[in-house]
Amino acid sequence: MRHLCGFAVGMVLTAVPASLNAQVVGDPQRGSVFAQQVCAGCHAVERGQPSSPNPQAPTFDAIAKTPGTTEMALYAFLRTSHHTMPNLILTKDDISNVVAYLLSLKDGR
Ligand code: HEC
Repeated sequence: MRHLCGFAVGMVLTAVPASLNAQVVGDPQRGSVFAQQVCAGCHAVERGQPSSPNPQAPTFDAIAKTPGTTEMALYAFLRTSHHTMPNLILTKDDISNVVAYLLSLKDGR
């Protein structure tokens, strides 16, 4: 019986993070502030800005409107540093906030 219980709990624990992830959304407001401070040196972070300070860096508007831009893709991207952003270390909170902000641009809200 003990074994069975442990097994059931294990199942629940492995099943939960996926569903939690979908629900724990970052705060787009804080993401916006964070983007202004950390990303704006290279990226245009405001909606409707035509070009980024660094011409290599796509505007956040453009990133948001790329069809392949999903929460998953952004998380994956921001967990690994892009080679042009070597020293950028984001905490999990920073990532979820900035992802929430980026996705809010996509919605046109
Ligand atoms: C030092 C300049 C620089 C900073 C700071 C910077 N980026 Fe970038 N970023 C770039 C460049 C250049 C590219 C395009 C080339 C690449 O993907 O490496 C890019 C690409 C991206 C992409 C991928 C776009 C795509 O089409 O796949 C995302 C998402 C992104 N940056 C998010 C961020 C976020 C969020 C921040 C702030 C936490 C940030 N960047 C800060 C220079 C920067």
